[in-house]
Amino acid sequence: MKALDGVRILDMTHVQSGPTCTQLLAWFGADVIKVERPGVGDATRGQLRDIPDVDSLYFTMLNHNKRSITVNTKSETGRAIFTRLIESCDVLAENFAPGALDRMGFSWERIQEINPRIIYASVKGFGPGPYEDCKVYENVAQCTGGGASTTGFDDGPPTVTGAQIGDSGTGLHLALGIVTALFQREKSGRGQRVVCAMQDGVLNLCRVKLRDQQRLAHGPLKEYPQYPNGTFGDATPRSGNASGGGQPGWIVKCKGWEEDPNAYIYIITQAAAFAGLARAIGHEDWLEDPEWNTPEARLPKLETVFDEIEKWTMTKTKFEVMEILNPLNVPCGPVLSMKELSQEPSLRGTGTVVEVDHPTRGKYLTVGNPIKLSDSPADVVRSPLLGEHTDEVLASVLGMSAEEIEAAKAAKAV
Ligand SMILES: CC(C)(COP(=O)(O)OP(=O)(O)OC[C@H]1O[C@@H](n2cnc3c(N)ncnc32)[C@H](O)[C@@H]1OP(=O)(O)O)[C@@H](O)C(=O)NCCC(=O)NCCS
Repeated sequence: MKALDGVRILDMTHVQSGPTCTQLLAWFGADVIKVERPGVGDATRGQLRDIPDVDSLYFTMLNHNKRSITVNTKSETGRAIFTRLIESCDVLAENFAPGALDRMGFSWERIQEINPRIIYASVKGFGPGPYEDCKVYENVAQCTGGGASTTGFDDGPPTVTGAQIGDSGTGLHLALGIVTALFQREKSGRGQRVVCAMQDGVLNLCRVKLRDQQRLAHGPLKEYPQYPNGTFGDATPRSGNASGGGQPGWIVKCKGWEEDPNAYIYIITQAAAFAGLARAIGHEDWLEDPEWNTPEARLPKLETVFDEIEKWTMTKTKFEVMEILNPLNVPCGPVLSMKELSQEPSLRGTGTVVEVDHPTRGKYLTVGNPIKLSDSPADVVRSPLLGEHTDEVLASVLGMSAEEIEAAKAAKAV
């Protein structure tokens, strides 16, 4: 048995944010029926293709464990089928541009009329306000949610991150909203509207930067690299690779950095483990010296501290550094490339990196469910071909006869 066995999701999501959400719910056992436009499907099927005429990795890696049905929800017969699907599902999830579902004739009021128990969940770019009608993609959300203004180096431009905090991050928020609404429905018997704006999701992940904005009014941010030798403006600045608080950290070069762009390691000079770190890098002299032996004394000289650490790390590979510092309780992490992550045996062992077989693509790697439930293990099943389950869903979920299905096909509704 899976945690969400018996939950049926009408999945109108596309691109990345919504599909991230419904893929997670599918891994937890929900029956996710992805509704796509006949002949076209989710636009990402054809985007960033590495193999001609084969569903892209963009699509396959975000749509595991789902069934695909094609329905033209703008045709009369298609709308009738969609209405019956709303009747038969627990959740309707979508992330179209604002108003798209209303334009199809399915407002929240209408959806509730059809099925008062349904949870109607959406990702939008912005919440109500001046930008609510805007279309939004990942980097727009990173910029408008506070991610870009606080990422990068002080003397460089705002920078977006590789982690898809706008799309996948908001999809995660939406998944939590959906299961929470399902939980409440157990008691209330009613469905509800769940909306996550990407700007809000990114800002939620940048919570500590809004903390720092308010701290600024009371003096400089002492854990930022701008302290004490640089200047602060009136907004939370970009803090490079600083880790913050009483536990300063930085990325330092390791052996081979001249050729390998990822021969780096992150090291945190946590006060409790500083003595071990100082000894390891050959700076026992710091331990008795009041100029160096307290976090307060080191704070204005962090650049020198990390320069000295780097002189040592440059003589070792990032993995050798990790092996030496870990037993000393010095928190550190090698900068791992996607190549290294894809080959990491422990990630394969836990199912976080999985190899999947696909009928037209062949074998490919994907990221499996990162959330491990002891009673609800997640198997990764390949993504569906466009409309692969149309007949199956129409017959088994809606009880349509073979003749009715043929008529819907003839009307180009499915
Ligand atoms: C992502 C986004 C920018 C893409 O925009 P887009 O490619 O122009 O696609 P749209 O969402 O505008 O909608 C596509 C159209 O296809 C239509 N469509 C979708 N599925 C359909 C179906 N099964 N049958 C008939 N029409 C369908 C929609 O009704 C819409 O038509 P409309 O413009 O006449 O209302 C936009 O959907 C968006 O801003 N979404 C919300 C925020 C978000 O999730 N962004 C991140 C995506 S990873």
